[in-house]
Amino acid sequence: MTTAIVSAMHEELAALLSLMPDEARQVAAGREFWVGHLHGQEVVAVLSRIGKVAAATTATVLIERFAVKRIVFTGVAGGLAPGVKVGDVVVADSFLQHDLDASPIFPKYQVPLYGVDRFPADPGLSGQLAQAVQSALPDVRVHRGMVVSGDRFVSTTQESKALQSALPRALAVEMEGAAIAQVCHDYGVPFAAVRTISDRADDAAHGDFNRFIREVASRYSAAIVGAFLRAA
Ligand code: ADE
Repeated sequence: MTTAIVSAMHEELAALLSLMPDEARQVAAGREFWVGHLHGQEVVAVLSRIGKVAAATTATVLIERFAVKRIVFTGVAGGLAPGVKVGDVVVADSFLQHDLDASPIFPKYQVPLYGVDRFPADPGLSGQLAQAVQSALPDVRVHRGMVVSGDRFVSTTQESKALQSALPRALAVEMEGAAIAQVCHDYGVPFAAVRTISDRADDAAHGDFNRFIREVASRYSAAIVGAFLRAA
């Protein structure tokens, strides 16, 4: 049962890769896939790069070439809902593309010809991830709910407020989750995602994001994924 561990950026995965004792590098679709073991589990770790297309390519290669049986994304996101603060963790229960709009042919946000506007995370896998956060980082606040994805780093208070009023159930915004969720839906592969809040997707987002990704993201990812794999 091979588990894929995916992050968008090096800083989100670095500490985890350093814990894989036997990793072998394989290159596919211009990406490095690290195949090996972590806490006794078969793992393929990969950097998707940033954005929905890069994430979808990565998920497709993981499933088609590496035959992974489940995909876990670990990374950072901007907080949207008022109580979702920098340093909190969000475990997604569903994913929506906030920049998808084929109206008036299809309702806004609906994925054309799928008849839905969001894809669920795998409930069992998400529950395991939430438990892993609680056991690895007991002082950290964990939220569970909808995460929205789009090909935009949301870095103005105005855009953040517009997203919050258009999608009041959205807890956090990032740039990959909904794309991987759609690919996993197509293949019937379980998917879950955990995102540490690096910024509030507001006018200060850029500085907060850079500081957080340098100082916290990798440590949190390694602790959460470590606890998840040890319990799995
Ligand atoms: N990932 C982390 N912060 C983000 C933001 N503000 N917008 C999009 N993706 C993010």
